[in-house]
Amino acid sequence: ATVKGEFIQSFSSEKPVLRNKVSIIGTGSVGMACAISIVAKGLADELALVDSNEDKMMGETMDLQHGSVFMKMPNIVCSKDFHVTANSEVVVITAGVRQVKDETRLNLVQRNVAIFKVMIADIIKHSPRCKMIIVSNPVDILTYVTWKLSGFPKNRIIGSGCNIDTARFRYMLGERLGIHSESCHGWVLGEHGDSSVPVWSGVNIAGMPLKEVNSAIGTSRDPEQWGNVHKEVIASAYNIIKMKGYTSWAIGLSVADIAESILKNLRKTHPVSTKIKGLYGIKHEVFLSVPCILGENGISDIIKVKLSPVEEAQMVKSAETLWKIQKDIKF
Ligand code: 2OP
Repeated sequence: ATVKGEFIQSFSSEKPVLRNKVSIIGTGSVGMACAISIVAKGLADELALVDSNEDKMMGETMDLQHGSVFMKMPNIVCSKDFHVTANSEVVVITAGVRQVKDETRLNLVQRNVAIFKVMIADIIKHSPRCKMIIVSNPVDILTYVTWKLSGFPKNRIIGSGCNIDTARFRYMLGERLGIHSESCHGWVLGEHGDSSVPVWSGVNIAGMPLKEVNSAIGTSRDPEQWGNVHKEVIASAYNIIKMKGYTSWAIGLSVADIAESILKNLRKTHPVSTKIKGLYGIKHEVFLSVPCILGENGISDIIKVKLSPVEEAQMVKSAETLWKIQKDIKF
């Protein structure tokens, strides 16, 4: 008789059904920041990690498994083979080459499209009903690429987009005001990164628009130059990349925030990248961030934010910039 046999009497032969499986493709700094954030929130009943670099993937997985006693995450598994992702509810895509110092996100495109062609086919083969959260850069274009390659309905393709830009914006507003970022409300929409759009008309504390007390807020006429807050948002990733080589913690937390709304069917609004053809007069199949309601089917609705003429023009300009690159992508 074995110790296990003496201790444990089997009570049911029913196979467990996974209901909240999350897979993360890419166990680099961003992928693992997503992993620890999802694990810390106890969001999934299984976490599967995939990477082509087997040693790194195995090392990260074991290191995470050894923390099991401190977390509510029953299974953490990994493999180079996508079969390990089977029946995922949510698949987070962080794989791909990342920006090098001073490289813009848009320069990465074709290098990452080649990687996506193989990866997306493998993901949908094993999880034909999953929701995909795309994080790899340039995220708005790679969300479009994922939508094209997967053939999934647009509600199940979510780009992390401006979820992190908005988080940075709210943090920096809070720093200026001495108020926790959770109480500083404001949305950064459009293209993730260099030409995102801060919607100043909506920036408010406790429901009180800052524009009420400073009508020039966000414009060059503003005596307090609040517009610099958005400039800092744009510069932040470049500054961090210069210092530590990449960004990871905030994007990981922001992805777990998105995954939570999906897995718990919260129907919370998030500024994530989605197909906005038809909004703001945009005619191309481009993906930009607008406030989306996220639940069990991914994006169930979008909020049609009223933009000022300047803000709308910036969105349209972003759409043109992205389409100029997208239209030449070889699938
Ligand atoms: C970020 O904004 C680099 O897109 C990444 O942190």
